[in-house]
Amino acid sequence: MSAASLTPPCHRDTGLALEAITLVRGHTPVFEDLTLHLREARIGLIGDNGAGKSSLFRLICGLDQPQAGRVVLPQGDNAVGMMFQNADEQIIFPTVEEELALSLHHLKLSRRDAQLRVRDWLAARGLGSWAPRAIGSLSQGQRQHVCWLALMLASHRTLLLDEPFASLDLPSQALLRRDIAQAPAQIMVSTHVLDHVRHFERVIWLDSGRVRQDGSGPEVCAAYEADVASRTAPTH
Ligand SMILES: Nc1ncnc2c1ncn2[C@@H]1O[C@H](COP(=O)(O)OP(=O)(O)O)[C@@H](O)[C@H]1O
Ligand SMILES: [Mg+2]
Repeated sequence: MSAASLTPPCHRDTGLALEAITLVRGHTPVFEDLTLHLREARIGLIGDNGAGKSSLFRLICGLDQPQAGRVVLPQGDNAVGMMFQNADEQIIFPTVEEELALSLHHLKLSRRDAQLRVRDWLAARGLGSWAPRAIGSLSQGQRQHVCWLALMLASHRTLLLDEPFASLDLPSQALLRRDIAQAPAQIMVSTHVLDHVRHFERVIWLDSGRVRQDGSGPEVCAAYEADVASRTAPTH
């Protein structure tokens, strides 16, 4: 079975959309009249630094407001969760179990029950020893992994992962790929490592805030690679 066929089809109707968005950050125009309907279960987001990948995610999760247009979110509370490029922007609590217990707040458990549940869940993943660890004692990649664990626990309908593989070692990258393939949520992933999204049913290539190409993963990744190769070819 291919990785793409493992992706659950249950969120094709979530109706996440950007409609005629104009966004200026500081004095920088980022998007002008951008419209995207984002219904597929797995969507990759690629493009050069500064293309607008993080800005798109910040818009969807409400961290930035557009100057014009609107963001349409799936119905219900807790709809969208984001994993930041920099784990330290996301983590609030001093220990792993406290940080992860926060993800269960929608279950309205007592603090103790939430922590017990987190400990059991970590143990089932072979990470039982992480529960009491101080966040400050973890490496950057381990902190990024904690952010992913927090997102998985929180049961959002849509997850936005901004360069989630950037600090991970190879085993952690493989585990994250597996988790992404199996998670029931709709997932959008921005990355410069195209092999992490090449098998996705949809990949969007952003270029200076515009959609340069939007289609199947293999097709769009190949087009971006060819463009990069032509831009970086040695001149004689
Ligand atoms: N905090 C900020 N203030 C002003 N402009 C920003 C800020 N962050 C990013 N930008 C600008 O927004 C544009 C898109 O950036 P970003 O969304 O971070 O791109 P990417 O994630 O694809 O590298 C760039 O021109 C960048 O300079
Ligand atoms: Mg970015």
